[in-house]
Amino acid sequence: MKYYITCYIDYIRLHIACNSLIKLLAPFNKGTLSILTLFSLGLSFSNHALAAPFEVLHWWTEQGELQSKQVLVDHLKVNNIEFEDFAIVGSGGGGAIHVLQMRALSGNPPEAAQIKGPDIAEWNNLSMLVGINELTDTSAWQQFLPKVVIDDISVDNNYMAVPINIHRVNWLWLNTKIFKQYGLAAPTTWKQFFATATFLTSKGIKPLVFGGTPWQDALLFESIAISELGAEQYKQAFVEFNHDVISSPEMVNTFKLFKRFHRYATPEQQGQDWTWSSQAFINNEAAMLFMGDWVKGSWTAMGKKAMQDYQCIPAPGTQGVFSYNIDSFVLFKKAHLSPDQHSQSIFVDTLMSPSFQQDFSQLKGSLPARTDLDLSGFDACSQLSSTDFKHDSKVPSFTQNMATSSHQKAQIIQLISDYFNSDSLSAEDAVRQLGVLVKALTSK
Ligand code: GAL
Repeated sequence: MKYYITCYIDYIRLHIACNSLIKLLAPFNKGTLSILTLFSLGLSFSNHALAAPFEVLHWWTEQGELQSKQVLVDHLKVNNIEFEDFAIVGSGGGGAIHVLQMRALSGNPPEAAQIKGPDIAEWNNLSMLVGINELTDTSAWQQFLPKVVIDDISVDNNYMAVPINIHRVNWLWLNTKIFKQYGLAAPTTWKQFFATATFLTSKGIKPLVFGGTPWQDALLFESIAISELGAEQYKQAFVEFNHDVISSPEMVNTFKLFKRFHRYATPEQQGQDWTWSSQAFINNEAAMLFMGDWVKGSWTAMGKKAMQDYQCIPAPGTQGVFSYNIDSFVLFKKAHLSPDQHSQSIFVDTLMSPSFQQDFSQLKGSLPARTDLDLSGFDACSQLSSTDFKHDSKVPSFTQNMATSSHQKAQIIQLISDYFNSDSLSAEDAVRQLGVLVKALTSK
């Protein structure tokens, strides 16, 4: 590894020296120049064989995520980029962001990092990011990226991240075996949901499984908020932080309805990540699960099939609304490599290529960020997701960092989770606390 890095640095020095020499010798004869040019080109060629490791921070560590990440590694390899893993497990990416902050503060960020939503602008404010337009020609992107994606990656009309996919968050997953066994219909309202859950409990079946961390509590809350507030008021509350909507009776109802789910919490789910609940669900230990469609990636990796082993429906009351989560990568300025952003350009072009976006999303459970691709090989849930994405109102998922910065999100989901797990806090008190918190988060 050391030899590799030394070679690469030597190559850069030599290449720069050689090019400077060509400029210096410009007034001299053409023969000398062509020998030097050939030498320099030869070095450029050898650069492809000796591409430096390209470090990428992400939090794809579960089996399905690992398979999708391997697609990224393979596509980069074809283009002579050696992917270097900087993976931080768990917490829906919360841990990864903290580690990234430490690395950036110490002046040693990776080449690229999985940063999404308003965090892109926050990192850009620190002048640490490379603008994507500096790396590649993005003039065609408008033609194949949907508006929500364009808005998500743009800061002051400049693209500051490369988007790869779109996950839907407001799904309810139904276990086919259990639903068939009891002849149950898919619940489309919360009333039907609780009736189905009560019936299943009476048969000794666990109706709902979920992990026990704040972001997972908040993911359930988010779907309930969409159903109780509607798309517009949801955005006013969680994107614009509109105080009237935050303190509205509909918000109190959202918290009350949310609390009714606490009866399905069990001691063993405390602290468990989403991988635990997704396994319990697919192993027929529980009938229903709320989770974004990355969970489908983990079932695909196990050979499970959409509509055979599990069904996907929008969370009750959220039909017609699509809460989105767009995975994207930012590129960091790397002082020692600044004269040569070649690898970062290849990284961006690879991630935006049709074949990568198709191969990746098919395993990841998402839709490609590009809307000009053939999805005929995608499973039935992705087909449904794609149709809904075209027609539904689209709202940014706040639990997935799409609506606010991750710092603001962390505070809000903690409040939601504390309320969920508290014996004494009323819905009215929680709403009051949310109002105070949002004021504090937005005061300058
Ligand atoms: C999300 C991310 C997804 C997914 C999930 C669980 O934040 O956008 O790609 O894999 O976390 O790790």
